[in-house]
Amino acid sequence: MRYTIYSSAISCLAAVAAAQTTPIWETLPPTPQLPGNPAGELTEINGVKIWHAEFGTAVAGEVPVLMLHGGFGNSDYFGDVIKTLMTKHRVIAMDTRGHGRSTMDSTPFTYELYASDAAALLESLGVAKAAWVGWSDMAIGTFAALLDAGNSTLVDRAFAFGGGHSPQSTNATFSSSKTYAAFIGRATKEYAALQPNGDLKAFAAAVETLESTQPNWAEADFAKIKLGDKVTIADGQYEEAVVLAEPALLNGWIAGSKRVTLTNVSHFAPVQDPDQFAAKVEEFLSA
Ligand SMILES: *[C@@H]1O[C@H](CO)[C@@H](O)[C@H](O)[C@H]1NC(C)=O
Ligand SMILES: *[C@@H]1O[C@H](CO)[C@@H](O)[C@H](O)[C@H]1NC(C)=O
Ligand SMILES: *[C@@H]1O[C@H](CO)[C@@H](O)[C@H](O)[C@H]1NC(C)=O
Repeated sequence: MRYTIYSSAISCLAAVAAAQTTPIWETLPPTPQLPGNPAGELTEINGVKIWHAEFGTAVAGEVPVLMLHGGFGNSDYFGDVIKTLMTKHRVIAMDTRGHGRSTMDSTPFTYELYASDAAALLESLGVAKAAWVGWSDMAIGTFAALLDAGNSTLVDRAFAFGGGHSPQSTNATFSSSKTYAAFIGRATKEYAALQPNGDLKAFAAAVETLESTQPNWAEADFAKIKLGDKVTIADGQYEEAVVLAEPALLNGWIAGSKRVTLTNVSHFAPVQDPDQFAAKVEEFLSA
């Protein structure tokens, strides 16, 4: 008996030590809930139903904040970031077409279509301009909005976390990382729960085709973005999904843009350190 207690105490200590030695940037903390776990609304946009929800209250003279999650994810990943931002701002979260609670059709995904959906959602809400906060695939979607003459008028400013300019911007080792494996496993379960009638195979194929073939931009494209210091190129200190040279490249290509690196986090910063993520968005909003 003594021995059993002793050995379980040892394994307990070992577990504590392991937990302490796994740095936060190598983990995928649980997906939070959105504040108040709202039912949200579905709005018909470009032939699909786009899910969105609102938080906080509008401040006179301030644009709302539009939160745009990454590929295979959903708005819930921003739950704890929004909890902070909503205390000072009107925040709108939307699920990208096919993702989370939004539906898809047979139209191939493009970053331009993602941008067009977000712009149309803002128009449907009577929002003339918003501060776009895009993560990963929707950092790219935010660039697509900035590069479109019509959509860009709805972007007051842009915070792009973990985006890139081409499929080669993805780090070849990402798909063998621990966080990737954890994320894909979890995202698959979340998809089934949020979208019981969804077609996971068709959805995954559409995202994979998009990510492996697009975007295809170069310096000359980014040179057209004229928002200057209203654009922030953000990344995590331990970014594992995007090649390490990418943020400096994009920052150099967008004249006057700012560059911010979040400490002790990876591509999954919004769940690893939501307070720091919110603080950086807050700085971006007040600049
Ligand atoms: C967004 O861009 C697409 C493609 O150019 C265009 O069809 C759509 O009307 C634009 N939406 C807005 C709200 O400007
Ligand atoms: C890809 O990620 C790994 C691990 O995070 C890193 O060591 C490597 O330098 C990255 N490669 C590039 C090209 O950025
Ligand atoms: C980053 O993580 C390291 C190791 O876990 C820790 O010692 C350090 O204080 C952290 N830095 C910040 C800014 O949180």
